[in-house]
Amino acid sequence: MNKNIVPHDYQISKEDRQKLKKHNSFLLWFTGLSGSGKSTIANVVEQELFRLGINTYSLDGDNIRKGINSDLTFSPEDRTENIRRIAEVANLLVDAGIVTLAAFVSPYKKDRENIKSVVKDVNFVEIYVNTSLEECERRDVKGLYKKARAGEIKNMTGISAPYEAPENPDIEINTEEVSVETAVKQILDYIRPKLQLKNE
Ligand code: ADX
Repeated sequence: MNKNIVPHDYQISKEDRQKLKKHNSFLLWFTGLSGSGKSTIANVVEQELFRLGINTYSLDGDNIRKGINSDLTFSPEDRTENIRRIAEVANLLVDAGIVTLAAFVSPYKKDRENIKSVVKDVNFVEIYVNTSLEECERRDVKGLYKKARAGEIKNMTGISAPYEAPENPDIEINTEEVSVETAVKQILDYIRPKLQLKNE
């Protein structure tokens, strides 16, 4: 099929769109266990960026799995497909000039490496929301860990499915030691220079 598809060149480029928006675009990828605080932190980062007049969009595992990825389970193959699709969607959003935030457990290192190759290294900021399983289980905001321990949920990350922690994340947040405000500041300090357009 692919050999009969010829890409069409559009005249408005990513650079044109970025100039119009007056900032660079890239992907902020939050990875960590379920209940680690990924969405909570991403949500506040997005609000701060919005306040600064930055164009943003957030993709979140729990929301995406109700829509475009509602056909996917938590098997290793489906998680890979989940992340592959999100990487492609995020790539379109970044191309559209939007600072994209994505909060997904994304437990497999190879899947996170794949995102990097789709959006390109320079556009990918990996944020490891490091909260221990003990703490996630203690919080158990959604009651999923209790269900997993009772055997009602299989393939639960951290319990019956693996989580491969990033070895060299761009940013690591230890939520058991720092507040949400401190974490947000850490992220904003890191990305501020990246928001600037090259010739400004
Ligand atoms: S991922 O592993 O494919 O990246 P994703 O981030 O989309 O996962 O979805 C994770 C969310 O689904 C969790 O925050 C949790 O609310 C819910 N969930 C339901 N079942 C599981 C499970 N078996 N493992 C992890 N999360 C689960």
